[in-house]
Amino acid sequence: MHPTAERIPATVPPELVHEADFDALTSEGNDPWAAIARLHEGPPVIWMTHANYGRPGWVLTRQDVINEAFIDYEHFSSERPGMIADMLGEPVRLNPIEIDPPRHHAYRQVLNPFFTPKAMKEFDDPVRRCCRELIAQFKDRGECEFAQEFAVRFPSYIFLDLMDMPRDRLGDFIGWQDQLMRGTDPMVRVGAARSIYAYLKEHMAAQQRNPTTALLRGMVGAEIDDRPIDYYELMGMFYVLYVGGLDTVYSTIGWIMHHLAKDRDLQARLRADLSLVPQAIEEFCRAFSVVVTHRQVAKDFVFHGVPMKKGDEVNLPIMLANRDPAVHENPHVIDIDRKPRHIAFGTGTHNCVGIHLAKRELRIVIEEFLTTFADIRLKPGETPRYHTGRTFGFDYLPLELDQRS
Ligand code: HEM
Repeated sequence: MHPTAERIPATVPPELVHEADFDALTSEGNDPWAAIARLHEGPPVIWMTHANYGRPGWVLTRQDVINEAFIDYEHFSSERPGMIADMLGEPVRLNPIEIDPPRHHAYRQVLNPFFTPKAMKEFDDPVRRCCRELIAQFKDRGECEFAQEFAVRFPSYIFLDLMDMPRDRLGDFIGWQDQLMRGTDPMVRVGAARSIYAYLKEHMAAQQRNPTTALLRGMVGAEIDDRPIDYYELMGMFYVLYVGGLDTVYSTIGWIMHHLAKDRDLQARLRADLSLVPQAIEEFCRAFSVVVTHRQVAKDFVFHGVPMKKGDEVNLPIMLANRDPAVHENPHVIDIDRKPRHIAFGTGTHNCVGIHLAKRELRIVIEEFLTTFADIRLKPGETPRYHTGRTFGFDYLPLELDQRS
């Protein structure tokens, strides 16, 4: 059989087949948001031959169908393939992101109290300190390579603080994160997943003996159905905080800084009135929604006239929902007065537990850059580089920075 034909089950209507590689399609040209938005021109549900790390699957292309898939967990299961358990060869389900209701609820209840807006307020000082520490390393130089010097490091620092882990492992963490999220060689990704596992295992055992923060005490001492949380449940929870909060924040702040560096009027407006930053963040999160997540079809059914089979993968590129022209007028225009309703942090049962932490991180980064620097611009003669894939983010973003006198 032709290799492409193997990727198209007989049940898929031919008119919905899109013979393309998601990563190649999204990296064409020099604007990934415009590149992926071409899918808005086709049907709301398509079958892509190379949709997720080369695996075939459905891709939902409109806000209404993406929303529906997020909410309908009975048909669109989060207990899906291709994740950490497969790489480790151990039953570590990312907890709670890979667990369906009703079991999901008990785990989510463990985390929720530690991630409320009130609980996250405590983090303002450490987050700001960490931001200033990183900025101090390049502010006198008048320039920086924002992706590696700031964006990658910042959320890793926050994660280490959140988990009360020593900073001396920062270099390792950054390397593993990069290999896990963007390694093209599957063995490199597996190696990174295992290194993270070994380190988290050591830290988890120490915390079980002697928990050092309220969050860690809450996790290691959690009760699930009136029994202590077990090894794999707890490991899944440690692991999800690692994978949930790093690439997402790193990628989002890269796009925000890239946009600010190009739109100097907006930069000046925000600098003159920092109270506009929270509304700007909502618009940035809409326009720069970096996550492509996925689900697995739980049972055969027909979705908007399309026959889906148990086990099919379904990809949800959130940027297609948040730039859907049927929902947002001129979706590619960034307008901080728009005050959009968006789903950058997902919706339904699995909506992001770290949303309040993430928004505080974004706010503090924007405030610190705008108050430290009188002007931020792209470095002339340089070309920023980005990747697409499961998260869209900058690998190389050289900036020029004028300090405020
Ligand atoms: C700008 C930053 C962030 C973005 C865009 C983002 C986005 C998302 C999205 C889209 C989901 C839903 C995924 C799905 O349903 O398949 C999610 C879930 C989740 N996120 Fe975030 N996230 C961010 C930051 C964070 C941070 C900082 C943390 C860690 C504290 C975090 C932890 C989680 C967890 C644990 C879940 C799973 C929740 C559940 O299954 O109930 N995220 N996030």
